[in-house]
Amino acid sequence: MKVLVTGAGGMVGTEILKVTDPDFQFIGLHSNVLNVKDAGQIKALLNAQKPDVVIHLAAKTNVDWCERNIAECQTINVQGTRHIAQAATEINALLVYPSTSYLYPGDKEQPYDERVDAIDPKKVIGVYAQSKFEGEIVVQNMTHLDFIIPRFGALYGGGKEDKKFVAKVLGLVKEGKKEIKMIRDRVIQPSSVKDTVANLLALIKRQGRGIYNMVGHGQASYYDYAQAILEFADITDVRVIPIQSQDFKESAPRPKNLTAINGRLQEAGLDLMRDWRIALKEYVLEIKDDFLNTTH
Ligand SMILES: NC(=O)c1ccc[n+]([C@@H]2O[C@H](COP(=O)([O-])OP(=O)(O)OC[C@H]3O[C@@H](n4cnc5c(N)ncnc54)[C@H](OP(=O)(O)O)[C@@H]3O)[C@@H](O)[C@H]2O)c1
Repeated sequence: MKVLVTGAGGMVGTEILKVTDPDFQFIGLHSNVLNVKDAGQIKALLNAQKPDVVIHLAAKTNVDWCERNIAECQTINVQGTRHIAQAATEINALLVYPSTSYLYPGDKEQPYDERVDAIDPKKVIGVYAQSKFEGEIVVQNMTHLDFIIPRFGALYGGGKEDKKFVAKVLGLVKEGKKEIKMIRDRVIQPSSVKDTVANLLALIKRQGRGIYNMVGHGQASYYDYAQAILEFADITDVRVIPIQSQDFKESAPRPKNLTAINGRLQEAGLDLMRDWRIALKEYVLEIKDDFLNTTH
């Protein structure tokens, strides 16, 4: 299968391009080669390559940035997705459009299950999530387009290139901080990018279609998440101090208590996501020396 990947330089794209699998031939397109704002360029590139699958990762993903740059976020995440979806339809390629479990409002006790919980547009929180939801609608409404929409959890990974939560926590330790403040009243699902990519590729092979939650099992507050990172890195002299989200300065509102389950993946016997602590421990052990090395 020939698979074209947009936004190939990002976290998920980098992980996909590491995969060696004889069933897939990946072609990664970075933002300097394919700009999703340029419909003509996209059409020409897809027509020249004629991939079987397009994994459309290119997006503005920093939720606080999106809150401050609404028009640009909309242009790239919604209009860009429309350009890709139109071009994929013309060449009969399967379109994979990763979305986010942030579309669920996080206002109920039970986990969200994509088989029963429809997204309520009025309850989608923040500019980023709204743009991803509009992107989903564009994809779903495109006539004659085959698509998979996986809704990812809060991803971590990247190894030496990691710049996200795990790297930030280890970075604070390396700086010599002895106390780290972390939000305790907001629950997320830390999700390994390695697991997520493996699950996504398995789903493509099994010819999945439609919307799938694809999140790490379990749930954690940022406080739990940071505590676990320190525990797995065997750091005993740094304290995590719990704080309330209202005391943390950020531009974008976020769901408070979000847990989803991988309903359709489980039904298909294809839920390869692991418990967040098990997958996180493996990752922290893999990278901790690179991030902490000599100074701690
Ligand atoms: N990371 C998560 O926790 C998470 C969770 C749920 C869903 N998702 C979704 O999964 C997908 C991949 O996420 P990610 O974490 O890999 O994102 P990422 O690391 O932020 O990468 C996004 C990529 O998109 C590229 N891009 C931005 N504007 C572009 C444009 N105008 N034209 C072409 N490329 C452009 C960026 O290139 P430059 O850096 O060169 O601008 C970057 O390589 C996104 O659709 C995201 O919404 C991610």
